[in-house]
Amino acid sequence: MKDKINAYIEEINSFKAATQEQVEGFRIKFLSKKGIVPGLFSEMKSVPPDARREMGQILNQLKNKAQEKVNELKSVFDKKDDGANASSDLTLPANFIELGSRHPITIVRNEIINIFSRIGFVVSEGPEIESDWYNFSALNFPEEHPARDMQDTFFIEKNPDILLRTHTSSVQIRVMEKEKPPIRAIFPGRVFRNEAISARAHCIFHQVEGLYIDENVSFADLKQTLYHFATEFFGTETQTRFRPSYFPFTEPSAEMDISCFICGGKGCKVCKYTGWVEILGCGMVDPNVLENCNIDSEKYTGFAFGMGIERTAMLKYQINDIRLFFENDIRFLKQFESAI
Ligand code: DAH
Repeated sequence: MKDKINAYIEEINSFKAATQEQVEGFRIKFLSKKGIVPGLFSEMKSVPPDARREMGQILNQLKNKAQEKVNELKSVFDKKDDGANASSDLTLPANFIELGSRHPITIVRNEIINIFSRIGFVVSEGPEIESDWYNFSALNFPEEHPARDMQDTFFIEKNPDILLRTHTSSVQIRVMEKEKPPIRAIFPGRVFRNEAISARAHCIFHQVEGLYIDENVSFADLKQTLYHFATEFFGTETQTRFRPSYFPFTEPSAEMDISCFICGGKGCKVCKYTGWVEILGCGMVDPNVLENCNIDSEKYTGFAFGMGIERTAMLKYQINDIRLFFENDIRFLKQFESAI
């Protein structure tokens, strides 16, 4: 028996496999229930008691050697499988790569940009950390004016004030300081307000600001441009209406409503049974703002508008909680896969 075992050990040591099947054949031959190793263990009964101990040790060695050999060969083939085998077998299915999807805010932002790009607006961006000048003073917010309280500000430093911009209107000033009219641009970006987070409000959100400065720009141009946007974005049936409003940087100022695209104006939950939903603020750029940027307000006029991207997306997709945009819950985001 001892000789038999030694011969098997030899065989194990010199065994080489070219395929995984050969490894499996080897395993079955030595280690399966009816294989050589269990067979030898059952022969132990006939070994005289004084030789059993030694025989048991040799047998265990044989078993371990066979197991080590199988493990060693298996690991070689497992490694090969990742590369060589996969690429040589062209019938194997490809690894499934899960595609991501665009965030709804990005989808809506891109759509707004596309609509305005097609009518000649270029895109500019400005910093999120601003001075008081760009966020308030140059935009005609007087010192200590209650209009500053309309927007709860996150201050980074006081005197001189450095803050997180509360609106993208700050980019108007940066662009008008740098460029000569005609200016026709939109400014998408992130804005910050010190507000309690709820289903309706967040301390971080996105806006798109628009600005058009040239000779003879009128309120009619403003209305037509925004009407064009509304019909492109919400559908050709959409109607618009303008209500007088107040912003320090525009005179006159207005808010634009669109006819409810859910009920067509008949009244529903989305429009709170009024038939209209508010989508943006706008107006003719106040001459003081033009002068603050060294643009001759006798020669040039212009209009501006600003809208919230979350608000617009909430309307378009009927999302009733703004917090969903910031939670990155895959179940929410996946719903927009087809909207790319
Ligand atoms: N900046 C305003 C806000 O955040 C929105 C706005 C209103 C922008 C009127 C404008 C405008 O350009 O003309 O509430």
